[in-house]
Amino acid sequence: MSALTWSDHLALQQPLMDDTHREFIDLLAALEAAAASPSAGLLPCLDRFVEHTEAHFGQEDAWMASIGFQPENCHARQHAEVLQLLREVQRRVREDGRVEMVGQLVPALAEWFVPHAQNMDGGLAQVMQATGFDPATGTMTNPPQAPSDAAFEAAAPGCH
Ligand SMILES: [Fe+2]
Ligand SMILES: [Fe+2]
Repeated sequence: MSALTWSDHLALQQPLMDDTHREFIDLLAALEAAAASPSAGLLPCLDRFVEHTEAHFGQEDAWMASIGFQPENCHARQHAEVLQLLREVQRRVREDGRVEMVGQLVPALAEWFVPHAQNMDGGLAQVMQATGFDPATGTMTNPPQAPSDAAFEAAAPGCH
């Protein structure tokens, strides 16, 4: 049983986001399997996971910037904190052979992801829908009249 599996309660009805989140879960499961029997395959698997997560978070950060969120908003801060942790684990596995850290990382990420997806990403998906934001072009059919950090933060409960 994987630490995290896709289910409908993770679906945000934002196709690009949902596809990316399914890939995140698949790559996390692959990382979990690789960590269970560490071999030469673990580091490439971790590298692939970090690379995907950089793109995943970067995409959401870019959408938030296009809509008018401040760069230092709490959702983007969570992304930065998780990426910092991932890169630290990646460095210690690569340089010091600390493969057991991946076994600790996987359940922590699984536990972190569910509320992040439901609250932070769910809040962003709601704002994207409300503003008529088109991820393909970065345009909005119903842009916010007065961008308000408070409103954006309210769209992402659990931010701190
Ligand atoms: Fe996400
Ligand atoms: Fe996110």
